Amino acid sequence: MRTKRNKAWTLLGLAVVLAIVGVVGLFLLARQPEIAAIAKPDPASFDQALVDRGRVLANYGDCTACHTREDGEPFAGNLPLPTPFGTIYTTNITPDVDTGIGGWSKEAFRRALKEGVDRKGNHLYPAFPYDHFTKVKVEDVDAIYAYLMAGVQPVKEAPHKNELPFPFNIRQTLYVWKALFLDKSPFKPDPTRDAQWNEGAYLVEGLGHCGACHTPRNLMGAETSPAYGGGLAEGWVAPPLNKDAYSQMPWTQQELVVYLMDGWHANHGMAAGPMTPVVNALQNQNEIDVFAIASYVETLRTGAPKIDATAARAAAVKREWGNPEAPAVPAEFAAGAKVFEQRCAQCHRNNGGSVPLALQSSIHAPDPGSVVHAIWNGIRPPTGALGRSMPALGPQLSEAEMTALVKFLRARYTDKKAWSGVDSAVKDVRKGK
Ligand code: HEC
Ligand code: HEC
Ligand code: HEC
Repeated sequence: MRTKRNKAWTLLGLAVVLAIVGVVGLFLLARQPEIAAIAKPDPASFDQALVDRGRVLANYGDCTACHTREDGEPFAGNLPLPTPFGTIYTTNITPDVDTGIGGWSKEAFRRALKEGVDRKGNHLYPAFPYDHFTKVKVEDVDAIYAYLMAGVQPVKEAPHKNELPFPFNIRQTLYVWKALFLDKSPFKPDPTRDAQWNEGAYLVEGLGHCGACHTPRNLMGAETSPAYGGGLAEGWVAPPLNKDAYSQMPWTQQELVVYLMDGWHANHGMAAGPMTPVVNALQNQNEIDVFAIASYVETLRTGAPKIDATAARAAAVKREWGNPEAPAVPAEFAAGAKVFEQRCAQCHRNNGGSVPLALQSSIHAPDPGSVVHAIWNGIRPPTGALGRSMPALGPQLSEAEMTALVKFLRARYTDKKAWSGVDSAVKDVRKGK
């Protein structure tokens, strides 16, 4: 009896010692050296052509979108990013010495983008998409550095503390995450493809970090296969860009370019939600580059079933509200249909100006997230489609009305099985989740 108990204590002791050794070991392994602060470089010391190139590249990386809070100064940070693990605030990347990156050397900046480590040696959370920036050429990273140092006004704004529970607040654990998931290999061009395709692949895989939203993530928050198989971003569905796309219409390269630059296409609807800042950045870019992006994105869809565009559009128009050939509303969806008629049909109707709802990928997605968010928050159109907005109607509806409406939309505008989880999705969005 006694020896048994002793043995148990010994085992427990051993476990505690091992745990301590493990934690100490992790902290030692995870340690990264501080890179000494430098005196803020003189903006005039940077080559203007490099600064200009950096501005274009920073735009591809959506650095402004993430590093600027609502009504905040450009690049001064503090945009809250909700993640499944808690809220992370972006940092100030203006060249302010105290609160931004004014004291960062080029080497410190390179390490942040390519290894996810800050100047002091702390591991950074992959909410900062450095898992894509590892693919960016060093000379391009240096151009972005030149732009931030010489083309951006310094702003004093201290970053908000992240709201992450234990153990996610321990930055050393990111060492393990990186060991498991961070691929630091450089971008490898495909010699069997042309220069345009390779340029597109470089932008999409690297700075454009399209997979950060369009690829599913595992329980540890790392991108997993299938690449571009669809993901979630701030509660919105980022549809698959591969053969499993939810698009009801085929995409030509030209259509993709229009969608990516203007944020709207008559066959595909709006680039709403978290896609809006992406297209707002692309709108200012060189069309040649966006054609390159489209040429790469097109090939991601290899193997997708062929769609007959004329038949698909005709079928979608037939379902539009007010179309004489539209199907009758079954009794179980009557409540939702009533809300639709009162609140939505003025824009979403037969012969109306908006894209038929049955052609919107969000309604065909297996998750109601985008539809629920569009109703609750409305749609603030991208700069290339300013005339097309949708008011935030959700707050004027009761929870029951909104739930019935969403269920009606799915039944009316798709022939897919009903969504599960509409009730909880509506509850969550109303609670601001
Ligand atoms: C999807 C949002 C997002 C995008 C896009 C993004 N960042 Fe960040 N970035 C973050 C977050 C979040 C952090 C803070 C991570 C942390 O606290 O661990 C961060 C941190 C950084 C840091 C470390 C700064 C510090 O003080 O520790 C640098 C440098 C940086 N980003 C530069 C850039 C550049 C340059 C781009 C564009 C090429 C960019 N970021 C694009 C979200 C983003
Ligand atoms: C911050 C997250 C995010 C990033 C980064 C992002 N997207 Fe998106 N994307 C979305 C969301 C969300 C939608 C759905 C928009 C909607 O419902 O209106 C979308 C929609 C799309 C669509 C329309 C798909 C369809 O089936 O209707 C295309 C094409 C697309 N994105 C391409 C890209 C490309 C190319 C990039 C990189 C240059 C990119 N996206 C980067 C979130 C993102
Ligand atoms: C003032 C006009 C207007 C009203 C009212 C309106 N919408 Fe919209 N809605 C739009 C526009 C514009 C778009 C963008 C696509 C397009 O041009 O067709 C859109 C897009 C959508 C989308 C696609 C979102 C995506 O993922 O891109 C859904 C779903 C939607 N509306 C549902 C509704 C519902 C449900 C209602 C009623 C509660 C409603 N809309 C009311 C104008 C409106």
